[in-house]
Amino acid sequence: MKAIEIREKYLTFFKNHGHTVIPSAPLIPENDPSVLFTTAGMQPLVPYLLGENHPAGTRLTDYQKCVRTVDIDEVGDNRHLTYFEMLGNWSLGDYFKEESIQMSFDFLTKELGIPIEKLSVTCFTGDNDCPRDEVSAECWKKAGIPEDHIYFYGKDDNWWIAGEEGPCGPDTEMFYDTGKPACSENCQPSCDCGKYVEIWNNVFMEYFKDAKGNYTKLSKKNVDTGLGLERMAMLLQGKETPYDTELFAPIMQKLEELQKVDDIQSRRVVAEHLRSSMMIICDGGRPSNLDRGYVLRRLIRRMIRHMNKLAINLEEISTLIELNVDNLKEMYPDLSKNKEIIQSVMLEEKDKFIKTLTHGEKEFSKEKQKAEEQGKKQIDGKVVFRLYDTYGFPPEVTAELAKENGMTVDLEEFNRLFKEHQEKSRLGSEQKFKGGLADQNEKTIAYHTATHLLHQALRTILGDHVKQSGSNITEERLRFDFTHPQKMTKEEIKQVEDLVNEQIQKDLPVTCEEMNYDEAKESGAIGLFTDKYGEKVKVYTIGNFSKEICGGPHVTHTGDMGTFKIKKEESSSSGIRRIKAVLV
Ligand code: ALA
Repeated sequence: MKAIEIREKYLTFFKNHGHTVIPSAPLIPENDPSVLFTTAGMQPLVPYLLGENHPAGTRLTDYQKCVRTVDIDEVGDNRHLTYFEMLGNWSLGDYFKEESIQMSFDFLTKELGIPIEKLSVTCFTGDNDCPRDEVSAECWKKAGIPEDHIYFYGKDDNWWIAGEEGPCGPDTEMFYDTGKPACSENCQPSCDCGKYVEIWNNVFMEYFKDAKGNYTKLSKKNVDTGLGLERMAMLLQGKETPYDTELFAPIMQKLEELQKVDDIQSRRVVAEHLRSSMMIICDGGRPSNLDRGYVLRRLIRRMIRHMNKLAINLEEISTLIELNVDNLKEMYPDLSKNKEIIQSVMLEEKDKFIKTLTHGEKEFSKEKQKAEEQGKKQIDGKVVFRLYDTYGFPPEVTAELAKENGMTVDLEEFNRLFKEHQEKSRLGSEQKFKGGLADQNEKTIAYHTATHLLHQALRTILGDHVKQSGSNITEERLRFDFTHPQKMTKEEIKQVEDLVNEQIQKDLPVTCEEMNYDEAKESGAIGLFTDKYGEKVKVYTIGNFSKEICGGPHVTHTGDMGTFKIKKEESSSSGIRRIKAVLV
């Protein structure tokens, strides 16, 4: 069964069991700055798991695009992926263990046709925070799982929480027996030998863990489940790795054709990182040296390094993107829409990296020589940091080069320096932000409103792919960064200016409403969703023209703002344009 068929079957099954199908949230969380990427289906649903009412009801289901970055360096083996799709179903204070387990059992055995003897399940063994989960074990037995296929484990295996704080609870996990021989007499689902593969996790979210580590009961008992699509496709197709499924096979084959040096691990890295980078760029991510941007940069650069290992011409990146869009567009139609942006971001990053590699390699040779002259076998963390900071040379590359030269690098020292550096830039930007807010006067307020008019005008003239990626206001001008693949034409600039000025001339009223995030989204408001989950957001509406989430302040009417003029339209970074404009 193909991945897309599994997805369809899943959503249909849960729809038939009273669930509303909701769309996948973007990979880049819209209202949670605390995480880099969406890492589980439950993440966009946290407010509802904490008790808020969801507009689509108490039974939900979806497929969710996810990126998990802890394992980047493991990618290349036969199972780790950074991008994956999670199928999920939720009960928000509706059904609990019995119905959830029965539905999972039915879906696996009846819809997917997995023989019962292939399945094993695990339940929470109990501790001071929460009793042993006999109820789940009983439900499994009742559904048809034999007792000797039911295991109990502690918090390490059968407890789920996203991070350190939040809704959580015991879980019951389902495992598929691949039929490989047991690695020992004690081989069990918790074993890592590859005989058992975890396929689905049902979390019974009854608790809230606070920052101090205390557990309290939630107002409602919820169910949160997650089924890894790539893994399920691999198992149902009897394949050894996700790379052998239709999701990766065409790219893997192409890489084999193009390579001049044979290396399966490198082919997997290229195929995996290509897909992850494309998905991140598609959802608005851009390479940079900070946080999300840095993860993307690492993915693309690691992909390129492995293309080099395979001795594949880097110009082929374009062909690979094209092929991947074709292969995945049915599952992710947005890939086709954003193909040009994906191409330009990837190719620009490739050019940057080629320059970096050349500079960095020269610099590395000098440092290597110095270290050798001093009789050292290790490159200092300070040097690794300087190569990173000045030449954009990723520490993994330095480590790899060092290894090729029989040396090591002091990564601990590098990490310390890197954290110090990040902390400094974080404090810097917080201060900038505070400064910006304190500095509100008539002029900056008008620029603030003009920014909203500009944002909407760009979307009207250029299209809905335009998203704000940065904004800066002084008394003299506004500066606005937004996603758009190419230079704006003179006509487009003129049209945008005219459209903004039209709104100013109409003297539109500017109103503000407070609502929760979901209502805001539903009302069609655009904007940066940077508030924490569950918090109210302010939505500013300008006539019928613009609706945007924003902290304000704004003018009350657009009439007195002056005439809007775009002074400059230029590139800011890959796929991001920058406009400087004034009100005169
Ligand atoms: N949130 C659970 C997981 O990610 C279902 O495994």
